[in-house]
Amino acid sequence: MRALGSRPHFGAKEKAVKPARSWCGSLAKDDVGRTVRVCGWVATTRDHGGVVFLDLWDRSGIVQVVVHPDTPEEHKLAHTLRQQDVIEVMGEVVARAPETINPKIPTGEIEVKARAIQVHARADTPPFPLDEAEEVDEALRLTYRYLDLRRSRMQALLALRHRMIRAARAYLDAQGFLEVETPMLTRSTPEGARDYLCPSRIYPGKFFALPQSPQLFKQLLMVAGVDRYYQVARCFRDEDLRADRQPEFTQLDLEMAFVEREDVMALVEGVLAAMLREAGVDVSLPIARMRYAEAMARFGTDRPDLRCPLELVDVTDLMQEVEFKVFREPARKGGLVKVLRVPDGARLSRKQIDDYTAFVGRFGAKGLAWIRVNDPADVPGGLQSPIVKFLSEDVLRALLARVQAQAGDVLFFGAGKPAIVNEPLARLRVRVAEDLGLMEEGHRFVWIVDFPLLEWDEDEHRHVALHHPFTHPHPEDLELLETEPGKVRSLAYDLVWNGEEVGGGSIRIHDPELQRRVFRALGIGEDEAEDKFGFLLRAFRYGAPPHGGFAFGLDRLVALAAGVESIREVIAFPKTQKAACLLTGAPAEVSDKQLAELHLRIRRTKA
Ligand code: AMO
Ligand code: AMP
Repeated sequence: MRALGSRPHFGAKEKAVKPARSWCGSLAKDDVGRTVRVCGWVATTRDHGGVVFLDLWDRSGIVQVVVHPDTPEEHKLAHTLRQQDVIEVMGEVVARAPETINPKIPTGEIEVKARAIQVHARADTPPFPLDEAEEVDEALRLTYRYLDLRRSRMQALLALRHRMIRAARAYLDAQGFLEVETPMLTRSTPEGARDYLCPSRIYPGKFFALPQSPQLFKQLLMVAGVDRYYQVARCFRDEDLRADRQPEFTQLDLEMAFVEREDVMALVEGVLAAMLREAGVDVSLPIARMRYAEAMARFGTDRPDLRCPLELVDVTDLMQEVEFKVFREPARKGGLVKVLRVPDGARLSRKQIDDYTAFVGRFGAKGLAWIRVNDPADVPGGLQSPIVKFLSEDVLRALLARVQAQAGDVLFFGAGKPAIVNEPLARLRVRVAEDLGLMEEGHRFVWIVDFPLLEWDEDEHRHVALHHPFTHPHPEDLELLETEPGKVRSLAYDLVWNGEEVGGGSIRIHDPELQRRVFRALGIGEDEAEDKFGFLLRAFRYGAPPHGGFAFGLDRLVALAAGVESIREVIAFPKTQKAACLLTGAPAEVSDKQLAELHLRIRRTKA
């Protein structure tokens, strides 16, 4: 590591010989004999009968400082030092005696013999130990995030994030991309989540929205001839939070003109590989593709974790006539009956199966019927299950053949509307595989393509855009737009890594007439379209190139690359799962004066 530039103040006697600052963690045997200057936080102090040892920490690592009684002033000062005090030490690098070498730290062969010590700041006792090994309550970590970030693990995560962004920038720069910033105060973009709003002082009753993504601006940049744009873009979405979501998160957002789907996907693969190289993850290119319909059929989700060898099998057609109403009704009324076959699932206890029933219930399943297959050749005697009595032998045989049942299997069933069959079984698939140790090691990437353009919104009783309203319909399906809009596929693509969506994008509509047709299919009238996106439609009248793009969820990507559970671990100052900042206390009340200036009055509802 190279020496740092800044030179803080020292006593007059030291001024003449003050060396450049060195990183603590960079000092090694080669430096023996050199006079160095190191700065940082006191990690530990030990008094060994006259000699005081200090572990001095900065972000690069730890170095041991020794303070001998032959420097009496420093020696006295060293005795007063406490954990996390901030000091600066000038001294000589000396080799440690062989028996005192510490092989656990990179600087373990040397120490710095202090000649001068300056105390920059005294520290209160930290509210939790900064020792890596300690598990600390997350609320406490977030309240004192600046201390949490001093832990080496967190420093390593910050550094990984930095390197991944740097690698992306270098890659995109070499491909002719321009980094352009787009506004934070804007109109809302229709991406599906709730907006964070900012009231305008100058225009009473009017609001800015913080962007859910730079989507519309990056499309305008294509009209502007920028051709290849990217941005490390902050996005804001007021949605229900989960471990992999934050109200404020970062996208690596990009857009390209004169491209087709394949061009964008190939570019994205290059960026991905460059970024993950920084994390030591090797991505073998090209990444496999899977149609949405296949992913839903086989895995019940559009973000399948391909490390899991289990698959779902559709048996809806077999259940049309069965006595068991739970299966018959959905089979006849446009629902689904699907099976998850678990090889060797007979190992699962009744208690585990009951737990799984509760587990799928969390995702909307109404129950979890099961059959334990003791002997597939013996129907029904070789089958153990509360529901076998409601299924005819013919159906049972057809079922066993369809799922290729083996002795020792357990079959789990989901029945009902697609949403309450697919999602619960998709979750169960991974849960069971984890419990039985069936998950493969390593990294599985997959592109999901050919998404439906629209999905039916039960609450609103109309079609809504699955991705966003600017996604280009699949050219082969254009004529269905007016007749069977639900069947139209789109030119959207999602990138999935080990079951997590790490990014998505699409080819966009650039023809105003086609955009009008899609708005119509979405039930967005001319006036509403004009009101919400008039500026984009107008831009398209002045010569829009064909274009498409993509956005990585950068936080998710870094979290997966680092192998950490939550994206909060890779965000310097994240919000809690309840969308609050424990460090600053945001969101917080504001003064009546501020409210008045913004023409706002708070309506307090009684608790
Ligand atoms: P999309 O909405 O799919 O696409 O977002 C892109 C990626 O951003 C990540 N992401 C999030 N990460 C953390 N917290 C959140 N709340 C959150 N929401 C989304 C996901 C997701 O894949 N404008 C389009 C992109 C395009 O079409 O070019 C867009 O925003 O990893
Ligand atoms: P019941 O008829 O409600 O006693 O259910 C019999 C079995 O079917 C139980 O094991 C339930 O868990 C299961 N079951 C009930 N509803 C469903 C459903 N929608 N999908 C799958 N299994 C179900």
